[in-house]
Amino acid sequence: MIIVVGGQKGGAGKSTVACNIAACLSEKSDSVLIVDADYGQPSAFKWAERRKDLIEDGENIKPIEAEIQQGKIKNSLRSKGEKYDYVIVDCPGRSSTEYRSALLVADLNIIPIAPREIELETLEEVYSIVDDARDINPKLKAIVLLNQCSYHPRNKKADIAAETLTEADLFPVLNARLCRRDPYGDSFDIGAAVCEWDNKKAIAEVSALMAELEL
Ligand SMILES: Nc1ncnc2c1ncn2[C@@H]1O[C@H](COP(=O)(O)OP(=O)(O)OP(=O)(O)O)[C@@H](O)[C@H]1O
Ligand SMILES: [Mg+2]
Repeated sequence: MIIVVGGQKGGAGKSTVACNIAACLSEKSDSVLIVDADYGQPSAFKWAERRKDLIEDGENIKPIEAEIQQGKIKNSLRSKGEKYDYVIVDCPGRSSTEYRSALLVADLNIIPIAPREIELETLEEVYSIVDDARDINPKLKAIVLLNQCSYHPRNKKADIAAETLTEADLFPVLNARLCRRDPYGDSFDIGAAVCEWDNKKAIAEVSALMAELEL
């Protein structure tokens, strides 16, 4: 299965989401590959490198293979998809050749965005990219993940964003949401993931995401 984490917005949490999904999948499969298509800032690749250090230091977590790819990556992804159970592609934070090319062979595109108007506005262009890809790859599913939501119950921005997205009818929106919580950044910084971290709320969010995606 090829899962592309990408959209238009820089800093939306693509690398964070890609690595957390890869870590969850590594618990049930030994055949997970991260393809970091952001060759300028390969943060998912570097995360996998830091992970090796953690394992050398005795942390009981699984290593995850990662490689950097650039340009028209469709054919390479297709062959990786035949070799690995799961290929997770982390895309750059802009409309890129890599994102467009990856969508041509992907099963699923997860589009993380923060629940802010300026981010929602990027989705029309993302939709046109996904729509173009579907001409060639009709099996492609695409879904928005609200990330960096406030955990304060009185803050309704994520609810409002979900309503706006539903009305816009571009992409379905996951019910699972990730809140803005330190463990996402703290775990990422050392090469770990939230499912390996001591924070029940963040673990529950990522578990709900995996369950809803049926991964
Ligand atoms: N749910 C979250 N809670 C707290 N911090 C988060 C969360 N998601 C992402 N971040 C932080 O936001 C910043 C951007 O995240 P990340 O690098 O994953 O985004 P990106 O979309 O991959 O960015 P780029 O477009 O530059 O590749 C990082 O510092 C990350 O730790
Ligand atoms: Mg990134």
